[in-house]
Amino acid sequence: MDKIALLKHKSEQALLGGGAKRIEGQHKKGKLTARERLQLLLDEGSFEEIGKFVTHRSRDFGMEKELYMGDGVVTGYGTIHGRLVYVFSQDFTVFGGSLSETHAEKIVKIMDLAMQNGAPVIGLNDSGGARIQEGVVSLGGYADIFYRNVKASGVIPQISAIMGPCAGGAVYSPAITDFIMMVEHTSYMFVTGPNVVKTVTHENVTSEELGGAHTHASKSGVTHFACANEVECIENIKQLLSYMPQNCEEDAPVYPYEATDESRPKLNDIIPTHPNQPYDIKEVIEETVDAGSFLEVHKEYAENIVVGFARIAGRSIGIVANQPASLAGVLDINSSKKGARFVRFCDAFNIPLLVIVDVPGFLPGTDQEWNGIITNGAKLLYALSEATVPKVTVVTRKAYGGAYDVMNSKHIGADLNYAWPTAEIAVMGAKGAAEIIFKKEITEADDHEAKLKEKELEYVEKFANPYGAAARGFIDEVIMPAETRTKLIKAYKMLENKVVNMPKRKHGNIPL
Ligand code: HXC
Repeated sequence: MDKIALLKHKSEQALLGGGAKRIEGQHKKGKLTARERLQLLLDEGSFEEIGKFVTHRSRDFGMEKELYMGDGVVTGYGTIHGRLVYVFSQDFTVFGGSLSETHAEKIVKIMDLAMQNGAPVIGLNDSGGARIQEGVVSLGGYADIFYRNVKASGVIPQISAIMGPCAGGAVYSPAITDFIMMVEHTSYMFVTGPNVVKTVTHENVTSEELGGAHTHASKSGVTHFACANEVECIENIKQLLSYMPQNCEEDAPVYPYEATDESRPKLNDIIPTHPNQPYDIKEVIEETVDAGSFLEVHKEYAENIVVGFARIAGRSIGIVANQPASLAGVLDINSSKKGARFVRFCDAFNIPLLVIVDVPGFLPGTDQEWNGIITNGAKLLYALSEATVPKVTVVTRKAYGGAYDVMNSKHIGADLNYAWPTAEIAVMGAKGAAEIIFKKEITEADDHEAKLKEKELEYVEKFANPYGAAARGFIDEVIMPAETRTKLIKAYKMLENKVVNMPKRKHGNIPL
């Protein structure tokens, strides 16, 4: 082969990865190829590949005869909506996308470039794990990536899409990144697969049940998004990025916004007349933020708290809201963890927070206590307390007990705290409170029920409203629900240059 023909041959091989037949196999499984995924993800013509001619160095098990350009991963940089991103896309058609020494080196190279140039890294994972033929160098390659994931955490956004297998220790790179997406039915993640599970615990479970997208979206919370297919997954990545800055030293892009009538009268009718009747907090969110801008994160996990990104007058915000429509919006272990992780992401990347409160307290019970509601509840308290981004609270209804403190109260550093007239800010619900503090009077009364009712009402009048808290300045203003959006637009504008100087320390010690 002459020199030019050889070069051409090499380029074609690089483009084909494992060859046309194998690409067909990938399509038959309902999956796109590594390059097709990048084509969908990046702005047209923006992709610049790095390391196209890299091949593995293994000389065992006949590997010297099987050299594929790129070695099972396509790496490089490009733009999404005009903004720089670094990408790697594993190619399952080459040794099952398994991670060799050189495959790892390629990923490490683009991660280092991303850190040095302050832009997000997006990893499209589709891999059989460590390249079995390479032994410990492959394990070392994984650790080189994990180490960089940790160094990059809080410096540049890191997003992982799981688009095929992701098993064994390989799961720990996505786990350290900020957001994980999975594709229904074609992706799975687990530390040990169904065969090992059967041997050790005698459980019969399929890959999908053990570690499919739905499992991780609803049961474990490992994935933040379960996507119907790869196209939806890639669209989600693009939307997610639109709320984020390029790195921790920048602000998120501000979208054009033209002020109109910001009053939202529908909000005046959203709180049910009975205090224990549920309503959907997402309706409050949708009415408050810019139309169509809300992207819910972790939708199917710990549904008693809602977290997600949105825009207010074109500016990115992160929302944490109790959901009265699920478990009455109570805080429990999972919702505390979910809220805390989201808050820490927003704080690391200068995204202001909006906390919407309707919380009856922490969930009681042995299950919660024995599994550590104390440590886990403290995560949310810690995360909100340490956050220095602009923090605004709106209490729509209940703010009871310790949960009042936790949910971005004035005392833990909220900048502005609003309450609707329907807010009840108290140590506990009126009935429970009356039963405790008026126990003697109720027991001695001829009609216990009537006395309890009377005392309950007395308590409601005294405490189950926002005015006691407002009188002390813990609530800055009691506002009509319809004016919430107007107030928030002004609040975030006022807070846009907020600076907080923290005491010198290496790092805090969040109760993990
Ligand atoms: C080398 C691998 C490979 C691997 C797959 N292949 N996994 N080659 N190392 N880890 C190759 C296969 O030999 C095959 O090559 C091709 O990729 C496609 O694989 P198939 O098995 O035909 O595909 P499929 O039926 O879709 O099954 C996919 C799979 C299975 C479930 C991922 O291949 C599998 O179980 N692989 C091994 C997974 C594993 O145990 N990995 C190591 C985990 S330990 P040919 O040439 O035949 O097409 C680990 C530790 C990480 O990852 C630690 C980090 C700290």
